[in-house]
Amino acid sequence: MHLYRSALLRFTDDGQAVYEEDGLLAIGPDAHGRQRVQAAGAWQQLSPQFAGQPVTHWPGRIIAPGFVDMHIHYPQTDVVGSPAEGLLPWLENYTFPHEKRFVAHGYGEQVAHFFCDELLRNGVTTALAFATSHPQSVDALFTEARHRQLRLITGKVLQDRHSPDGVRDETEQSLIDTEALIQRWHGVDRLGYAITPRFAPTSTPAQLRGAGELAARYPDVWIQSHVAENLDEVRWVQELFPRSRSYLAVYDDFGLMRERAVYAHCIHLDEADRALMHERRSAAAVSPTSNLFLGSGFFDYAGADRAGFAYGLASDVGGGTSFSPFHTMLAAYYVGREGQTKPGLSLPPQQLWWQHTAGAARALGLQGVAGNLQPGCEGDFIVLNPQATPLLARRTAQADSLDELLFAMIVLGDDRLVEQTVISQAK
Ligand code: GUN
Ligand code: ZN
Repeated sequence: MHLYRSALLRFTDDGQAVYEEDGLLAIGPDAHGRQRVQAAGAWQQLSPQFAGQPVTHWPGRIIAPGFVDMHIHYPQTDVVGSPAEGLLPWLENYTFPHEKRFVAHGYGEQVAHFFCDELLRNGVTTALAFATSHPQSVDALFTEARHRQLRLITGKVLQDRHSPDGVRDETEQSLIDTEALIQRWHGVDRLGYAITPRFAPTSTPAQLRGAGELAARYPDVWIQSHVAENLDEVRWVQELFPRSRSYLAVYDDFGLMRERAVYAHCIHLDEADRALMHERRSAAAVSPTSNLFLGSGFFDYAGADRAGFAYGLASDVGGGTSFSPFHTMLAAYYVGREGQTKPGLSLPPQQLWWQHTAGAARALGLQGVAGNLQPGCEGDFIVLNPQATPLLARRTAQADSLDELLFAMIVLGDDRLVEQTVISQAK
């Protein structure tokens, strides 16, 4: 058992923040020897029962759950900041040419190493990531993530049409490769596999059908794709799949909507699509920095809440502009304001933070496992230093409430605010 003493942030199941100025977090092995949060709460109340246990004391710091990034492309680490008129030219001019590099032996390994460093520097301890269409890009990321004992989900991108040589795969082989990767990696330590059709325009109906069959055969494997991000993309899908009711319905028609299916963007949906997201228990990954950078549009928070489907925040690097969850939460605040019908405040800070931690974990089907520090959770955490920059120090010192404190960190924070990232499973 190890005790940590500092201010402590965690969440109730309904997304309320719980904050202790002087908190205790106890992490130790469960009956199966796996590291779990054993206790979390006020130091004064809990410490007597742990007398004699080693304590790490961080005065002036805040322990918070590790962030959960619901959608990120590790091969696009070097694509960040590539401007384009919109999604489709961005893919053609920057992303596909870049992803071709991952065919080379050893290329994915060094990017995966840098990528995991960057996740951890920014306080991200759980991620659902795209690899490329090359199976070796998946092996590279899983190998690196396993080495660091990260909770990471990824998969080989499926794209057997409308893709240039070098990233386009072959229908039958792509499905064979996917199944082999599921068997090699899914459930190893904290790794999970995601069946990963890039998006409907770059897969033939045969590939989507095969992906849906694998999704039925492996029900606890994740599914990830993109949907309704950009209006040109939406029109293209209507031409390619005229028999489907909508873009989202294409995925449903091929058996790709179910629990553990995560669709990035979900901007240009209608009410029937939103109802379908809810009915199929699929989740949306909301990527506001990407949507602002590529000019894709604004996620409709009110529409999502009306329909009741799950969603959480995501960087979408390299369409997204930052690995930092603070930048993503701030962009979500701006977008929440844009989409409003009534004037007033946007999303409250506790909700923004929840959407990038426990809420995102819930949307991934990892409630009570990741993204929170309640008893039973895995207990990956970050140590925040609110004095990391002069302005952070000055502004947080004047915060009169938890909301003010969280807001100051969301608005002013970046990787400098994250002093340490602690992976509780580390051997
Ligand atoms: N749609 C299909 N591929 C991609 C991608 O790599 N990034 C984004 N943002 N959208 C996509
Ligand atoms: Zn994406």
